[in-house]
Amino acid sequence: MERCRELVRPALVEAVGRLHPWTGEMAAYALGWADTAGNPDPGGSEGKGVRQALTVLGAEAVGADGRDAVPGAVAVELVHTFSLLHDDIMDADTLRRQRPAVWKAYGTGPAVLAGDALLAQAVTVLAEAPNPRAAAAVRHLCRTLNALVSGQAQDLRFEHRPWNGPGAVGPEQYRSMAEHKTGALLGSAIALGAILGGAPDETVTALERAGRHLGLAFQAVDDILGIWGDPAVTGKPTHGDLRQRKKTYPILTALADSGRAAHELAALLDSPQRIDGEAAGRAAALVEEAGGRAATRDEARRHLDTAHRTLRDVPLTRTAAQELDTLFTHLLDRTW
Ligand code: IPE
Ligand code: MG
Ligand code: MG
Repeated sequence: MERCRELVRPALVEAVGRLHPWTGEMAAYALGWADTAGNPDPGGSEGKGVRQALTVLGAEAVGADGRDAVPGAVAVELVHTFSLLHDDIMDADTLRRQRPAVWKAYGTGPAVLAGDALLAQAVTVLAEAPNPRAAAAVRHLCRTLNALVSGQAQDLRFEHRPWNGPGAVGPEQYRSMAEHKTGALLGSAIALGAILGGAPDETVTALERAGRHLGLAFQAVDDILGIWGDPAVTGKPTHGDLRQRKKTYPILTALADSGRAAHELAALLDSPQRIDGEAAGRAAALVEEAGGRAATRDEARRHLDTAHRTLRDVPLTRTAAQELDTLFTHLLDRTW
């Protein structure tokens, strides 16, 4: 990932440098490059850089030079940053990567604008890429953006659904939401590399499919971390998703159980009381007892296996395919 990051970094810095200075400052904060005063921030984190690595490796895997993928890698990193920026507003999450979320640090209006700026720049970078497949790449990115928005819409709508009964969110609906909000961008990350690398459509489709399954596995792990994650690792409060009563996979599968723990969990979630401190700890224990944690781990495994298998079905350059395989595994190493 380090090698890919170094390859992409100058173009990413250049893209952020083209923004209006104020939105650029917020973008630099969001990317972990600077604090709110615009100085280098030792507490900042740029994130793992998984998406840009997928794009570079996507191009190398189809026999192209990783440099061909750079505009795609910049676009996915910018889209990713934009989506987190707006997502924290939607989720009312005050912390991101151990620092105040952009909307907390700068205000909601400015944060919305910074997200818009990143999105506009992402499309611009790709549209202006000196690559004969740039137009195809932009079309692909636009499809991804629509998928992402629809995933976020599904997620937000879930908040109004009941925990139990006929209106409850089923695992298939959850999967569709996760595939859109998370899978689409990871799939697109690899696919854009392959497109810019000149791969045939079948190869692009297969790589995208692998990335989508990776995204589903990633979201399952993210849901585990949202409940049991160590704040030092996640950069978010303990039991965050439970406190906010988010309809995540561990909770939904736990509620689908018929045992005592599931009943107690349903009562706790249905009660008008705030879930914090002790109640959140109790809820986490109940989710685990009702099998929600194990089911989510299985879900992640299944999708990771499918992602690996899908990769093996495509004719790819050996070294890059191995690196992709390692990256896939590494991405899920955050909990086990
Ligand atoms: C974020 O989903 C997905 C997008 C930004 C499109 P979540 O809301 O589940 O992710 P975190 O936990 O805030 O990162
Ligand atoms: Mg969120
Ligand atoms: Mg969200």
